[in-house]
Amino acid sequence: MSRLIVISNRVSAATGGKKGAQGGLAVALSAALSEMGGIWFGWSGEQTDEFTGQITMQREGGFTTATVDLEEQDIEEYYNGYANRTLWPLFHYRIDLAEYERGYAGGYQRTNERFADTVRPLIEDDDAVWVQDYHMIPLGAELRNRGVHNRIGFFLHTPWPPRRLLSTLPEAKDLVETMFAYDVIGFHTEEWLQSFSDFATLEMGARAEGDFLHFRNRRVRMLVCPIGIDAEEFRTLSQGDTARQTYEQMMRSANGRSMIVGVDRLDYSKGLEERFLGYERFLLEHPEERRGVFLLQIAPPSRASVDSYQRIRASLEKLSGHINGALADLDWVPLRYVNEGYPRDVLAGVYRASSIGLVTPLRDGMNLVAKEYIAAQDPEDPGVLILSRFTGAAAQMTEAILINPHSAEEISDAIGRALKMPREERIRRWKALMEGVQREDVIWWRQRFTDALFEVPLAA
Ligand code: F6P
Repeated sequence: MSRLIVISNRVSAATGGKKGAQGGLAVALSAALSEMGGIWFGWSGEQTDEFTGQITMQREGGFTTATVDLEEQDIEEYYNGYANRTLWPLFHYRIDLAEYERGYAGGYQRTNERFADTVRPLIEDDDAVWVQDYHMIPLGAELRNRGVHNRIGFFLHTPWPPRRLLSTLPEAKDLVETMFAYDVIGFHTEEWLQSFSDFATLEMGARAEGDFLHFRNRRVRMLVCPIGIDAEEFRTLSQGDTARQTYEQMMRSANGRSMIVGVDRLDYSKGLEERFLGYERFLLEHPEERRGVFLLQIAPPSRASVDSYQRIRASLEKLSGHINGALADLDWVPLRYVNEGYPRDVLAGVYRASSIGLVTPLRDGMNLVAKEYIAAQDPEDPGVLILSRFTGAAAQMTEAILINPHSAEEISDAIGRALKMPREERIRRWKALMEGVQREDVIWWRQRFTDALFEVPLAA
């Protein structure tokens, strides 16, 4: 039977069945790897003085992780550089923040070649290879250059930018050309898939035919495959001791007030400034509601060595200070802004205790917080999800209150509407949302992608 070789920038170790310690993606991929046997390969997250390609293997929970250390220049040019200063902003439609430097592009290519050299000896003839995300776009082509004729799939966890935006990237055509080395390319939404297809056909002369794109002598299957969460696991987590204790703690601390919650990596794509301004607008427009509500925004810092992340952090500190300074009272603080990450079982309790989940990214490939928020709710008294129309999740979660995150007025109106929403309507919307979260969960996602990959005939 074929094994699965998963390749991604970050690798999650198995946790010996300790549920809740891993993210949903790690849970799904670990399950696939345990079922099919296989290896999860990627960067260890560690720095070494000089790249050696030395692999650290760990076997746990039915599969093996294989990780490699990178040297400082790789981390700077590949991870902090091309991945997070160039592709991340561009893929989230922020060409104003994208940095186009040949040094980053070169470092990205070099590091992907190093990954390919390192993982190549681990790949056996019958294995299927599944590459994840924007860090490793050229990896498939590099594997083909090293004689890998196996099935190779690629899944993009971020949006794919519109053609005209992608055209601003100096290496755009070369990068897209490398993607024709894959047999299947998966996107979260039809919109991201269409943008990719537009670029390939209109800028490069590829030919679209049904689900396939043809370019030179290659044919690639395009697949819409929205990622989900492990809904059952999250639901169980939300009924466990830690979640229950957190729920009680939050209810005591809310003291009868309605809690609005936001949980996001501290990233400019998450629309946190716009969210704070929308919330401030709500407080200014509804002085009578002020003392009955507060916003808890959890935002653990990430990618701290990249300037744009330092800037967004400073700007949010200023804005949260301004809102609290202008509006707080002797015994009421409108905004609790917390730069700390919490385990998923704690978050499950926080979600359940809140009346509103405020998920308003300016652009997001999917957004799993929206799905976890739904899975954690009390079916008898669920909270309301306010969701940005510009997330991948919005294509599936149409029973949420969908808003434009650039509009403070829409955010303010949605908060007012959610706070007043009758219980029957909350239950009706939640049921429909929960049904989708359970049906199209992470197991469904993984199965859908691997089924498509195994349908590809093997090269003769
Ligand atoms: O697709 C976006 C992503 O790679 C997610 O998988 C993850 O949430 C996030 O970015 C992690 O970013 P980083 O590895 O840079 O901390």
